[in-house]
Amino acid sequence: MSSILLVTSSPRGDESLSNKIATDFVNKLVAQHPGSSVTHRDLGLSPISHLDTVTTSAIRKPAEARTSEEAAAADYSDKLVAELLAADTVVLATGLINFNIYSTLKSWIDNVARAGVTFRYTPEGPVGLATGKKVYIVLSSGGIYSEGPAAGMNHATPYLKTVLGFLGMTDIEVIYVEGTAFGPEAAEKAIAGAQERTQQLALAA
Ligand SMILES: Cc1cc2nc3c(=O)[nH]c(=O)nc-3n(C[C@H](O)[C@H](O)[C@H](O)COP(=O)(O)O)c2cc1C
Repeated sequence: MSSILLVTSSPRGDESLSNKIATDFVNKLVAQHPGSSVTHRDLGLSPISHLDTVTTSAIRKPAEARTSEEAAAADYSDKLVAELLAADTVVLATGLINFNIYSTLKSWIDNVARAGVTFRYTPEGPVGLATGKKVYIVLSSGGIYSEGPAAGMNHATPYLKTVLGFLGMTDIEVIYVEGTAFGPEAAEKAIAGAQERTQQLALAA
């Protein structure tokens, strides 16, 4: 039994490959571990705003010093953090968008990366506080980046591994759904490959 947080970020709904593979994967995990709880944060359907003056100010202030507008912004960020901290399994889904992640997933990260809450500074350097989690990243892309000449243009995987690691999440698997722009056959092959991989990962979970 586990507590799963699924964060999808594509605005493309049923057309989205990262949504599909990640959602199917979570269903496989639940089938493997009946009774698991799933929280789905659908950023495509309900995007998170970019950081603004209110949020950046709110999260740096003690609660008693916040205006009502700042308190609402801090509550929202707190809710996202609580969802993350409550999970032992995190599934993040994104397309490769201009060589990085969907911007609303970036906004989610900007809300959950909180000094004193999900990481803290120590004399020895920063320490991540969101520990003890298994993280799966589902990354769909038109091109192929897991290997080959374009690998260095994939900024999503290194970025996510860096920021998640900074927050204490270092046990990370990446599931690629890639090469989907190379025609329907290539897309079918990419989807079948990702489904097979997630089946194996679910069995091993
Ligand atoms: C605005 C935009 C930018 C994209 N940029 C890239 C890119 O840099 N590299 C790539 O291989 N595919 C790129 N694609 C294709 C997407 O990665 C691909 O369609 C992926 O499946 C999108 O994820 P989704 O299906 O979950 O929405 C882009 C698509 C869009 C709409």
